[in-house]
Amino acid sequence: MAIWPAPWLGLVLLVSLWGSSAPASLLRRLGEHMQRFQESSTLGLGLSPDTVAIPKQGWLEQPLDPFNASDRRSFLQRYWANDQHWASQDGPVFLHLGGEGSLGPGSVMRGHPAALAPAWGALVIGLEHRFYGLSVPARGLDMAQLRFLSSRHALADVVSARLALARLFNVSFSSYWICFGGSYAGSLAAWARLKYPHLIFASVASSAPVQAVLDFSEYNQVVSRSLMSVAIGGSAECREAASAAFAEVERRLRAGRATQAALRADLVACGSLNRAEDQAEMLGALQALVGGAVQYDGQTGAPLSVRHLCGLLLGGGGNCSRSTPYRGLRRAVQVVIHSLGQKCLSFSRAETVAQLRVTEPQESGMGDRQWLYQTCTEFGFYVTCEGPRCPFSQLPALPSHLELCEQVFGLSASSIAQAVAQTNSYYGGQTLGATQVLFVNGDIDPWHVLSVTQALGPLKSALLIPGASHCLDMAPESPADSPSLRQGRQNIFQQLQTWLRLAKDSQVRGGI
Ligand SMILES: *[C@@H]1O[C@H](CO)[C@@H](O)[C@H](O)[C@H]1NC(C)=O
Ligand SMILES: *[C@@H]1O[C@H](CO)[C@@H](O)[C@H](O)[C@H]1NC(C)=O
Ligand SMILES: *[C@@H]1O[C@H](CO)[C@@H](O)[C@H](O)[C@H]1NC(C)=O
Repeated sequence: MAIWPAPWLGLVLLVSLWGSSAPASLLRRLGEHMQRFQESSTLGLGLSPDTVAIPKQGWLEQPLDPFNASDRRSFLQRYWANDQHWASQDGPVFLHLGGEGSLGPGSVMRGHPAALAPAWGALVIGLEHRFYGLSVPARGLDMAQLRFLSSRHALADVVSARLALARLFNVSFSSYWICFGGSYAGSLAAWARLKYPHLIFASVASSAPVQAVLDFSEYNQVVSRSLMSVAIGGSAECREAASAAFAEVERRLRAGRATQAALRADLVACGSLNRAEDQAEMLGALQALVGGAVQYDGQTGAPLSVRHLCGLLLGGGGNCSRSTPYRGLRRAVQVVIHSLGQKCLSFSRAETVAQLRVTEPQESGMGDRQWLYQTCTEFGFYVTCEGPRCPFSQLPALPSHLELCEQVFGLSASSIAQAVAQTNSYYGGQTLGATQVLFVNGDIDPWHVLSVTQALGPLKSALLIPGASHCLDMAPESPADSPSLRQGRQNIFQQLQTWLRLAKDSQVRGGI
């Protein structure tokens, strides 16, 4: 089958090309890398001439300050629409919410919700989050502008987009709108239903950390457990090897100049490792590398799976008699650098701070500054390694995360703690009162501990998929999918079926 160039090809390719990566966000780099990889493989689907016009890209003019009617400033918010399954104006609308990054055409083409659309003849729309991707307001990202970036603003956008899109596509009044999202966008999907139940009929929230937390030390505790999970290629030995590798890195950091220089070469660091703050960044990046292998285990485009990482740490990758956990970790770093297409890893704290202070929107569309702002003003989510249950170095500690909010935005540590508490009281944390929200999580995903994993009532469903990583349920079906993942996807389908049927029945009875 011929592969036709799709009109959105240029856009996908535009979002590319980065230089050295800021260390604090290696995890974000991995996520973005996979998204780009998956978007570009959408191009290989062999679109026929009939489908070249799909998906459609559009723009909505949205108020910059939706909470102040006398402020007339606006910005353009990008959306994607896939109407190839849309059977009639009464069909449901699946609204795929974007999160802390750019949202591509794949959001309406592959994985769920797109994969669920044919069964109900649904219209699929993807809505990019304000301030990310190409939906960045004019005038950039200085503090005066960032005041308009929060989950509450994003939810206001969902409301006005929901109303505008209904008019634009001539969607029937009786159509049901169902929100979907993964990770932070999964939380948005749940909160959209919580705050606007008259506009949003139901939500599927994948890997949604609805509980904000300042010190997310539990992240690495789950990483530790997942490294021991036999089902995904882990083992107790693997976790021990990871600990040993980190201990060896720390020993070499302290072992004098020559050893440190060798360490720098081993880890392909761009600069020196003399400063304590850079050493902490480096240890944080190595944790993110291991954490990333867990968080994105088994996903298309992920450079390392748990099985692969454990193989390297336990010496399966080369000359066994000379292999050590440290060498395995070194090899893992090389694998990741190679996948990301980088020459070296920057561990410079000063460089990180300088990059995050840039207020012009970055061409790459990565949104590091914006997301940092949201963590400083709403969520925290700072991954630390504290106590004996964390297998890595005890760095970086919470203060160095909080210091970044101060250095980049001038926000004090106490204001961040207060903001996190406020977020939880505003949305309800893990005990939020929303009905008809299906929470989907994977039990190896470090984020599941901040989500809802047990049904809170008949209309409050939760699904915990064994062996599944972050947002894996949203990925396209693959022959490599585990039986539990297949079952999980089946359960999502059935839950939606049940809700839609109940609603239709009551419509008929109510004579609407
Ligand atoms: C609302 O917008 C107007 C016009 O820009 C501005 O003068 C006013 O200060 C704003 N009010 C608040 C509470 O931000
Ligand atoms: C919108 O849909 C209704 C049916 O729901 C139809 O009667 C009407 O002609 C449509 N309008 C446009 C502009 O497509
Ligand atoms: C492994 O490394 C050792 C030490 O460098 C060497 O003597 C040995 O021949 C190597 N074995 C293999 C199978 O390459």
